[in-house]
Amino acid sequence: MSDQTTGQAPDGESNVPHPTDEAGIQAAVEAALAAIEAAGDLNELKEARLAHTGEKSALSLANRQIGKLDKSEKAVAGKLVGSARGRVNKALAARTTVLEEAEAARILIEETVDVTAAARRRSVGARHPLSVLQDRVADIFVGMGWEIAEGPEVESEWFNFDALNFKPDHPAREMQDTFFIEPADAHLVLRTHTSPVQVRSMLEREVPVYVLCPGRTFRTDELDATHTPVFHQFEGLAVDKGLTMADLRGTLEHFARQMFGEEAQIRLRPAYFPFTEPSAELDIWHPGAKGGPRWIEWGGCGMVNPNVLRAAGIDPEEYSGFAFGMGIERTLMFRNDVPDMHDMIEGDVRFSQHFGMEI
Ligand code: PHE
Repeated sequence: MSDQTTGQAPDGESNVPHPTDEAGIQAAVEAALAAIEAAGDLNELKEARLAHTGEKSALSLANRQIGKLDKSEKAVAGKLVGSARGRVNKALAARTTVLEEAEAARILIEETVDVTAAARRRSVGARHPLSVLQDRVADIFVGMGWEIAEGPEVESEWFNFDALNFKPDHPAREMQDTFFIEPADAHLVLRTHTSPVQVRSMLEREVPVYVLCPGRTFRTDELDATHTPVFHQFEGLAVDKGLTMADLRGTLEHFARQMFGEEAQIRLRPAYFPFTEPSAELDIWHPGAKGGPRWIEWGGCGMVNPNVLRAAGIDPEEYSGFAFGMGIERTLMFRNDVPDMHDMIEGDVRFSQHFGMEI
């Protein structure tokens, strides 16, 4: 009977008691009850059920033999085996209930959800306000049908200066303190402005040209509250037949209102840039400026110098152009009240989050 208590089905007929053998049947019942009681979970109980009530179990096999008995023995055997199987089934049912309840209780505890627990949160990042602002500027010009153009940050001196009408010994070269790339005879610089993309755009495209060129620019400035050696600009360039200063003004006025609201105004003051003639400084009347509305210097602009058109293979007798350039950091500073440049470059996500995803 040892294999019955381990839950194994008896494999030989030798373990099967005769259906009238009271002691043998009783032993089979006890083995079954012991296995049922020993089952610690529903899986073990299933094994016990198979071993003690399955087709090959002692009681089933004994039961099957009843048919072969004499009539006189049949009644006794039927009662004996029937009640034995009844007791085993009852014990099985009782144990099933107990184990099912235990299982349910275990699941309840193991899978408890503490609805009051603090949620595990991974803080999301935020787009940098400079990127968001740059996209906003781009959207305004794309909305007017302009294209976005890009150029390299390591630029040849020719595009950064010569093609823009900076003469080799022109003091204007010193207007922009330049990072030169070694070796010097490679004539490469970190571009000091986005204006070289003007020339690249004219060479790459057919006229008319309407492009906005946002990008990173570099000058040998020390980092302080209002300067950084790495900054961003956006450059606008339009080349077409018959463009005048009035087109430049109208474009900038529309742009200013999109950026600063309907009350925004612009003002042009005469200035000098080698690549535009005439040239102007652009001021913006910022209605929402901190401390009250006021004029703020915003960028440079002018009519593309005929020498620049010529350098890009465009006939200045036939076409004219206007261009403008502004700093994105500077725009963010006075548009969104950022008093210190350090905040923009340190990369602390709390600074970015404060702007949200739309500015
Ligand atoms: N490139 C000039 C600067 O960086 C700005 C500018 C762009 C001026 C286009 C005129 C026309 O200061």
